[in-house]
Amino acid sequence: EKPLRIVMVRHGESQWNHGKLFCGWYNCPLTKTGENEARQAGKALKEKGIEVDAAFSSLLLRANQTCDLILEELGVKEDVEVKRSWRLNERHYGDLTGQNKVVAVAKYGADQVKLWRRSYDVAPPPISQSNPYYTQIQQNKVFVDVPKEEFPTSESLKMTTDRSWPAIKSGKTVLLAAHGNLLRGLIKNIDNVSEEDIINLNLPTGIPFIYEFDKDMKPTKSLEFISDEKIVKTGLEKVKDQTTKTYVR
Ligand code: 3PG
Repeated sequence: EKPLRIVMVRHGESQWNHGKLFCGWYNCPLTKTGENEARQAGKALKEKGIEVDAAFSSLLLRANQTCDLILEELGVKEDVEVKRSWRLNERHYGDLTGQNKVVAVAKYGADQVKLWRRSYDVAPPPISQSNPYYTQIQQNKVFVDVPKEEFPTSESLKMTTDRSWPAIKSGKTVLLAAHGNLLRGLIKNIDNVSEEDIINLNLPTGIPFIYEFDKDMKPTKSLEFISDEKIVKTGLEKVKDQTTKTYVR
């Protein structure tokens, strides 16, 4: 039997990535750049001869679009059914949702913002009813299947990971098109990354990476990017830039 292999990919650049806004469960689409990144990801996998048997994604458009574009490039869009689950949604960013990240740094300080974005067990403040996106998110019909008692108002990386893992343990070569913090949490669990080190782990948009597991679900291959080093490096710089430099919106 083939070992379980998971091709993980953070969705391509979204409109709110571009605007440097905290997004979480807000359902925004990819930008044109993001669509291109996703197609590029599909092409890279095809070039490597990686064939996908199953695909998982969240309930959020940006990950679904990325997933579809990759499957399309691989020429298997008609054959592979995408299993979508709220458990693979991005971390819920609580009341930070909709705020500009540069403005947040000016308001709360860089240390506090880094704690919210990158720490393991600190959740941002819960989304308040006065947040402009409250209704759009907490009452979005897309999320009807989320059990009421599990519907978050904000999540730490730990909370995100605890709800995510059960959704993906099956298949042979599985494509998992998800989100920055969803994938950071999985990587932490799979590779036993410490709470200190997870702070410095960023993921570029739209660049696939491979995990392989033996039959005991021990990783035999970790975080192997399917792209050249230069592109990965540029992608990582872009994530760091989210809280600095220009105010895009
Ligand atoms: C978001 O939800 O804003 C992004 O998907 C991830 O943002 P971060 O890099 O600020 O955690």
